[in-house]
Amino acid sequence: RRVAILISGGGSNMIRLVESMTGDHPASCVLVASNDPEAAGLARARAMGIPTAAVDHRAYKGDRPAFEAALQAELDKAAPDILCLAGFMRILTPSFVQHWEGRMLNIHPSLLPKYKGLHTHARALEAGDSEAGCTVHLVTPALDDGPILGQARVPILPGDTEARLAARVLAQEHRLYPLVLERFARGDMTRIDL
Ligand code: GRF
Repeated sequence: RRVAILISGGGSNMIRLVESMTGDHPASCVLVASNDPEAAGLARARAMGIPTAAVDHRAYKGDRPAFEAALQAELDKAAPDILCLAGFMRILTPSFVQHWEGRMLNIHPSLLPKYKGLHTHARALEAGDSEAGCTVHLVTPALDDGPILGQARVPILPGDTEARLAARVLAQEHRLYPLVLERFARGDMTRIDL
């Protein structure tokens, strides 16, 4: 299988995904693309020998379909058959999502369906939750709402700050996403719970 990974920033999840695709893994990474030409993850992908592309969403001034057409053109060159969103911070239109539906995964830093959207850790702390975590799901037109392929849970500890909780969850994202991708690339959608 041919995997493309979309990032917006540092790409720590992208790195773990690329590093996981070795040996008899059923997939290989054919492209890392970002909506931000300055995304630090682009240089890290290039350092791992992965082709990269950048489509600056600011060059399309809110014209989402035009931005997505340019992004799709970059994807068409690499011809991936699985798309992994990994710290990708742009909302995708229903038409883009429908084109990729069933082949596009996302990792979200909460135990969905709780805390869709942003500031997930602050919201869990504010609510006094005893645990938090991350979710890998298939992307559907509704935000952070598709079928769940895997989850990892962490405790919320006394005195936790948003930064400490975010770091604890991120470490689990790095475990969960590669496990889910490997299983998904083999055509197995059995849910993984860590
Ligand atoms: C992190 O907040 C992570 O929880 C979420 O995206 C952000 C950046 O991740 N998935 P990455 O380091 O760019 O993969």
